[in-house]
Amino acid sequence: MAKYRSIVVLTGAGISAESGIPTFRGSDGLWEGHRVEDVATPEAFARDPELVLQFYNMRRAALKTVEPNPAHQALAKLEDAFDGDLLIVTQNVDDLHERAGSKNVLHMHGELKKAWCLGCDGRALWEDDILETSRCPHCAREGRLRPDIVWFGEMPYQMERIDAALSACDLFVSIGTSGNVYPAAGFVALVRHYGRAHTLELNLDPSEGSRLFAETRHGPASKLVPAFVDEVLGG
Ligand code: OAD
Repeated sequence: MAKYRSIVVLTGAGISAESGIPTFRGSDGLWEGHRVEDVATPEAFARDPELVLQFYNMRRAALKTVEPNPAHQALAKLEDAFDGDLLIVTQNVDDLHERAGSKNVLHMHGELKKAWCLGCDGRALWEDDILETSRCPHCAREGRLRPDIVWFGEMPYQMERIDAALSACDLFVSIGTSGNVYPAAGFVALVRHYGRAHTLELNLDPSEGSRLFAETRHGPASKLVPAFVDEVLGG
């Protein structure tokens, strides 16, 4: 592989699939047994906070039963050994990139292990269940916490920083994402518009936007990502 100076890696649910975290788009259209509108919208939280909190409490608890896989580990190795800039932009709300050792990780859809207080706008690390009676560690108000997750209809985090990185990179790699959810699904077109980066898709099967990538490789992330990292580090 050519020598790169600035790499942006976009990851999605597919990179965590082999760790045992289910992806989103199963053939039955359900998300872990729920319709997305019932659990992942601000309207759902207003209508039934207990159901929504419980859904995310279960997903947060499940994090304790999974480990990073070779794909997460390879990206951490790349960050460690690479002498240019590397930013991981993840749509995932799990903490597997961090647990593998990656440091420069931006969670554009939020994080399961953070709570957000609607009373004071503070964020706090949160390992256990968020309950309707949980108290905000910043303002001490009860019952104002929600998971710090970007729901449908809400704005993803840090879009300006992401756009700056996409415009400056010379390699954009998309790993394990179906290309169904914007704005992440539009990053490859944006990178092409900026015109200076090679674009590479690593995914189990062709994504919605596959044809927009200059190069595509299809297979499991646990195999494709370590091989890609070795190529970059090998020059
Ligand atoms: P999806 O579930 O839509 O897509 C996962 C992709 O990973 C699919 O294209 C699979 O083929 C691929 N895949 C599965 N196993 C894989 C493996 N072992 N190796 C490589 N690829 C594999 O997940 P996302 O694209 O991440 O948003 O979904 C995007 C967003 O939609 C999520 O962040 C979430 C969801 O609604 C919010 O929660 C806001």
